[in-house]
Amino acid sequence: MPPDESHAGSLPKGTRGVFVTGTGTEVGKTVVAAAIARTLAAAGRRVAVFKPAVTGLEDPGEPDHALLRRAASSEQTDEQIAPYRYRPPCSPHLAAELAGEQIRPERLRAAARDAAARSDVIVCEGVGGLMVPLSPRYLVRHLATDLGLPLVLAASPGLGTINHTLLTIGAARAAGLEVAAVVLTPWPQVPDPIEVSNRDTIEALGEVEVKTLPHLDLSDPAGWPALQLT
Ligand SMILES: Nc1ncnc2c1ncn2[C@@H]1O[C@H](COP(=O)(O)OP(=O)(O)O)[C@@H](O)[C@H]1O
Ligand SMILES: [Mg+2]
Repeated sequence: MPPDESHAGSLPKGTRGVFVTGTGTEVGKTVVAAAIARTLAAAGRRVAVFKPAVTGLEDPGEPDHALLRRAASSEQTDEQIAPYRYRPPCSPHLAAELAGEQIRPERLRAAARDAAARSDVIVCEGVGGLMVPLSPRYLVRHLATDLGLPLVLAASPGLGTINHTLLTIGAARAAGLEVAAVVLTPWPQVPDPIEVSNRDTIEALGEVEVKTLPHLDLSDPAGWPALQLT
């Protein structure tokens, strides 16, 4: 499913950063992206965060762009972090349609370029999984390809995760994307045998590094353990 044209190399060569995606929605992408951003900020880097579209603003709780900004100690505006923001909790292509517009890939690429230009490192979070449409012909996977950053995959530790994670790794590599690591989150203090086996099995069959992230107190980024991935 190619977009109309490829824009690989949309970020300047040598741009440091990661693109955090996951096996689906509510799997921990924001928490993983926030932990990576916090680790970089704590090491003194100027961190930009980026999320192409945020949906579900009508739901209670801190929206993704706000948690990412807090974790990164960033001063970016909502608009700079997430150019498209919608109230309904649905796929971004539909949320845009309901708002009477379409998400424009060139606006996303320009916003990501701008964020990268003002920082040492950029931490992007996708929306849903890789095959989620941002607009009718432009999927999250197309954006990841255009930005050219290594992927980090957030996944849950429990039953079902081997299949979801290996499918996502396959979809990434089929498009030529590099998978830097999988992060299982939240990783329990005392993992059960299934969780331990899931970690080892994904590492072996996916031929990928698998990291784990413990449960974090989201109100206190200063207390988070480091998650070093770039
Ligand atoms: N390591 C973690 N520590 C605390 N909460 C977590 C962790 N991993 C996942 N969660 C929780 O799981 C839910 C989904 O995480 P989130 O990062 O918002 O998912 P996604 O961005 O994939 O939709 C949230 O309620 C989040 O707080
Ligand atoms: Mg999220």
